[in-house]
Amino acid sequence: MSSPAPVPKPVSVLDLARKKEQGQLITVLTAYDYPTARAVDAAGLDVILVGDSLGMVVLGYPSTIPVTMEEMLHHCRAVARGASRALLIGDMPFLSYQVSPPEAVRNAGRFLQEAGMGAVKLEGGQEMVPTIQAIVRAGIPVMGHIGLTPQSVHKLGGHKPQGRTAQAAKRLLEDAHALQECGCFALVLESIPARVAGLISQRLTIPTIGIGAGPDCDGQVLVTHDLLGLFDRFTPKFVRQYAKLYEEMVQAFEAYRQDVEKHTFPAPEHTVDLPETEWQDLLTSLEEPKRERGRDFA
Ligand code: KIV
Repeated sequence: MSSPAPVPKPVSVLDLARKKEQGQLITVLTAYDYPTARAVDAAGLDVILVGDSLGMVVLGYPSTIPVTMEEMLHHCRAVARGASRALLIGDMPFLSYQVSPPEAVRNAGRFLQEAGMGAVKLEGGQEMVPTIQAIVRAGIPVMGHIGLTPQSVHKLGGHKPQGRTAQAAKRLLEDAHALQECGCFALVLESIPARVAGLISQRLTIPTIGIGAGPDCDGQVLVTHDLLGLFDRFTPKFVRQYAKLYEEMVQAFEAYRQDVEKHTFPAPEHTVDLPETEWQDLLTSLEEPKRERGRDFA
């Protein structure tokens, strides 16, 4: 008798550090629900990020700004039920960590305590150091995020690439060092020049995970809905689409509508049968009882 397949060991922040040391690339995708988490986990990705991008690609908000803690925790719980191997990182939403370090610790803790996450991610550079220190002191691993930080979209004047002058690039490098020194276990670099991302990745000992940051980061992340072609509002230039699921969904829904309208669905194979004898018994039992003459008015 063959022995059961071994349960894979969950990925930890130490495994990510080891991958960087050994020159192996780290793979990250977002997921926001149970079936996607199962699929990403089954595909062997190292990390699942429950990104606040869910505000745009799942909830239909115009940006990530409206996303709340309760919405994040709801989606994180679904992902935690679906994944067993990948490291799970919950994205801290706007205003859940900017107000004060104690509030940030409390909210970061909820991702681990109430939603099954193994770490949190938050946006910002040197200004976030005291907050990150407090969260890390509470025993919660933190991933940083610099470059294009979508929660600051109004300050940045849009979803634009960052670090495109020598001065801005130097500031990114300083931010990256500050985030490493204060205890981040990894850094997302979003939408910055590839050369700058490569330099940061070379200078840091913690892994960098790039999105729109070129090939020289220690790992890559994409928003799953972009990769699958599920989000039709726009596709950033740095995305490679591996499927066109939105179009396939529309085709499938149209085909279903037509089948129902043409009466070709449900077909016999989709239908629960009732044996003929039971059917006849039912019809008989529904017939008017036959009354004997003369007794009708008894
Ligand atoms: O919210 C998100 O999905 C992210 C990734 C793009 C890194 O922050």
